Amino acid sequence: MVCSILKKNSSIWVKYSVKVPAEFVEPVVRMFSKFLTNNVYVEQIGDPEDSSVELNTLVSGFILKKDDNSVLKSNLMSGLSLFSGVFNISEINTEEINSDIWEKQRFEPIEIDNIQVLPSINHKLKKGFLGIVIEPSMAFGTGHHPTTKMCISLIKEFVKEDSKILDLGCGSGILGIAAIKLGAKNCLSLDIEDESVKATLKNSIDSQVDGISSEKQDLIKSLDVNFKPDIIIANLNSYLFKAGIENIINCMKQETIMIASGILIENYNEIKNIFVQNNLKEIKKMENGDWTAVVLRNESA
Ligand SMILES: C[S@@+](CC[C@H](N)C(=O)[O-])C[C@H]1O[C@@H](n2cnc3c(N)ncnc32)[C@H](O)[C@@H]1O
Repeated sequence: MVCSILKKNSSIWVKYSVKVPAEFVEPVVRMFSKFLTNNVYVEQIGDPEDSSVELNTLVSGFILKKDDNSVLKSNLMSGLSLFSGVFNISEINTEEINSDIWEKQRFEPIEIDNIQVLPSINHKLKKGFLGIVIEPSMAFGTGHHPTTKMCISLIKEFVKEDSKILDLGCGSGILGIAAIKLGAKNCLSLDIEDESVKATLKNSIDSQVDGISSEKQDLIKSLDVNFKPDIIIANLNSYLFKAGIENIINCMKQETIMIASGILIENYNEIKNIFVQNNLKEIKKMENGDWTAVVLRNESA
């Protein structure tokens, strides 16, 4: 998107960038997207498996140079200063870039198994990979977070041709789109945020998938789902599993599989009890960093 804007006229842009741990990319992308809509990119720096490099992800945002960008910069600095109380983050780097030079810059897609997450439709898909276009936005789900990555691996393992999917807390839509690319028939993607519904629909069009519908629903209040999914994908958090479990269970049929992620390892025993009490049998468990993801099967008759 940015490349095509810039191609028309040579112009000067200001690039703001910060280095963050991959686990905290999402809040920084959200904050950058608030001020630099549609012009935010995320890049992995070095080997993602090398845990000795903590600040291993670069979040960059671009804006056309104006006489005075000081208010924007001050807003970004205030946001980053709040984040720095919670996690490690580099100083903000500011650079002026000519659009001609920009065009030569590359933003590498990220790879999860045989899926490439591309930050715009202008990227060329690597041979042998399935492509998902996720433009960084206010919606969670760039693919950099360990909880999202684990879900994609588990979707790949459990999705069957013609599976009907319910994606709870869809964010950018990444997991439902991945499920369809991997063979699922259709997916209802729900989220409490308007931004997520919008992003899911846009990203599914950009990714050229059919069969995704998206709605705003609050899974804690109620879930209005008029089919029984084969697979529920739920990359949420411990609180949402506790508060929403009854509504989630009501959507299931016997043997519905749920891929549940976003649970901190330290909270897992508590959440596991809730799953057991609701006849959800754990059939696979994964961990990545501080996070647990599990696959559960509904065993109630
Ligand atoms: C961790 S993000 C997951 C996003 C995406 N599925 C992924 O895996 O990258 C959790 C999502 O749940 C959504 N959410 C939070 N509370 C919710 C609720 N009560 N009902 C539905 N969605 C909710 C958030 O807006 C957010 O998009």
